[in-house]
Amino acid sequence: MLRRPGLRSSSPEARPLRTATVPTAPASLTLAMSSVLGRVGYMTTESQRMSERPLPLFPSEDERPIPSPASFLRLDADKDGPIAALTCPVLLCGRAVDGLSLLPSGSVQTVVTSPPYWSLRDYEVAEQIGRDDGLGEYVKSIVLAFDQIRRVLAEDGTVWLNVGDSYTSGNRKYRAPDRKNRARAMSVRPPTPAGLKPKDLIGVPWRLAFALQDAGWWLRSEVIWYKPNAHPESVRDRPTKAHETVFLLSKSQEYFYDVSAVTGPNGRRLRTMWDINTEPRRREAGGIDDHPAVMPMTLARHCIRITSRPGDVVLDPYAGSGTTLLAAEELGRGWVGVELKPEYVSLIERRILG
Ligand SMILES: C[S@@+](CC[C@H](N)C(=O)[O-])C[C@H]1O[C@@H](n2cnc3c(N)ncnc32)[C@H](O)[C@@H]1O
Repeated sequence: MLRRPGLRSSSPEARPLRTATVPTAPASLTLAMSSVLGRVGYMTTESQRMSERPLPLFPSEDERPIPSPASFLRLDADKDGPIAALTCPVLLCGRAVDGLSLLPSGSVQTVVTSPPYWSLRDYEVAEQIGRDDGLGEYVKSIVLAFDQIRRVLAEDGTVWLNVGDSYTSGNRKYRAPDRKNRARAMSVRPPTPAGLKPKDLIGVPWRLAFALQDAGWWLRSEVIWYKPNAHPESVRDRPTKAHETVFLLSKSQEYFYDVSAVTGPNGRRLRTMWDINTEPRRREAGGIDDHPAVMPMTLARHCIRITSRPGDVVLDPYAGSGTTLLAAEELGRGWVGVELKPEYVSLIERRILG
């Protein structure tokens, strides 16, 4: 069993992460784990205090500094073996299904994730979902990953799933490049899915939600993430899109949900409409491009606060630039991230280590 150095079990803030009993990790993995353990101290008294204070959803929260950097394991989903117990944060490089298959059953309390949106972006990495697959295949691959998520979730665990929608191509063969993000916007438009017409709104989030419901998930809420600062669009035959969907799904009928962790205006119970500005893309010092589709920290924080306690483990199987992991770190939770593109895994490492 791994220990996080410097975290004493007798100290009030040193609540251990939830652990699960599974076959012991091979010795080679234990060695690999100890060799990648980085800096220490991911659960500070300050982060604990922040996580326990109910915060209003409106107006938007202030930016807070991420507390001292975590120790974490950096593993490769193709090369490393199963993890015996989650005793410190884990960052896995590989496909979501492969990374998830290494995690102990019942070890995660909540998932906050945003998979690639279908047909909208090219992450320029082999085996990415949402680019070369048809709509049906895309939905199937997420449902498959969710089968693994169900296994790793605690019985009272939940998932916050943020998915964007898109339109059929109207039979245009390519998309005009995105001026803000030339390199990564999809240059090719996929064929119109069977049964849809040119210019149809596809309804990707709800297609996915219904497939997950069919696969046994409880679909508990549809949250509208309204973006007050949404970009204008050039279209003249429909309203400008200014929202995305976030579903709350649960593994069981009863689940952990802290109704007072985040409140709405005037302290009222949280409604299903959340006003959260998108955050501008940041470039790292030296002009290195960072991630093109970053979730706002505020959104990740709210989800984590509502469906987990300090010391629980938060998972993002499509981690991107690691926003969920950073928010979990800040709020005194443990975390596990899986990300396919090695460059983004390195970006997460740099963000976490500060
Ligand atoms: C919408 S982004 C996530 C952004 C993240 N929420 C953030 O705030 O940075 C989706 C991520 O999924 C990754 N991805 C694509 N296919 C994947 C797969 N099969 N398994 C794991 N990650 C994948 C992409 O590289 C991309 O970084």
